[in-house]
Amino acid sequence: MSHAEDNAGTRRDFLYVATAATGAVATGAAVWPLVNQMNPSADVLALASIEVDVADVEVGTQLTVKWRGKPVFIRRRTDKEIEEGRAVKLEDLVDPNAENDNKPGAKALDQNRTLDEKGEWLVMIGVCTHLGCVPLGNNSGDFDGWFCPCHGSHYDTAGRIRKGPAPRNLQVPVAKFIDDTTIKLG
Ligand code: FES
Repeated sequence: MSHAEDNAGTRRDFLYVATAATGAVATGAAVWPLVNQMNPSADVLALASIEVDVADVEVGTQLTVKWRGKPVFIRRRTDKEIEEGRAVKLEDLVDPNAENDNKPGAKALDQNRTLDEKGEWLVMIGVCTHLGCVPLGNNSGDFDGWFCPCHGSHYDTAGRIRKGPAPRNLQVPVAKFIDDTTIKLG
């Protein structure tokens, strides 16, 4: 399956866009292999960047693309999600680091996790920082964000770990808008 769309409905969360020539993103809580012998070599990975058209991503939905062998969640957050994320105090966080490759060393404030100033666009590697499962989205878990059912890790609306065994916030990869509707990863 090079293009897979979950037949559970039309929710954006389940729209998977294959961006490489081969492979498909598994739905649900399938384990994402941490070590994959099929991965391209490091020098190829280092160069790989992709552009994602997000024009059709509506508020409150999420697009998942495959990039460098991993799922990447691109969520367009609602005002409520933004408010919830911004209301959280740093001291309540398990991982105080923003884990944002665009802002190395920044604190895990909601503002330091998103791509835009308004906080609408959240881009994250969709791999649980515990043992590598793909968390479920669409306001899942106790904190209205993502939930990894493998061992019960709950992430908030900014993708920050709040409860469960995962040690770190979901990683924000190098990403930026290159025009109004296109996000470049890498
Ligand atoms: S892999 Fe996500 S909780 Fe263990």
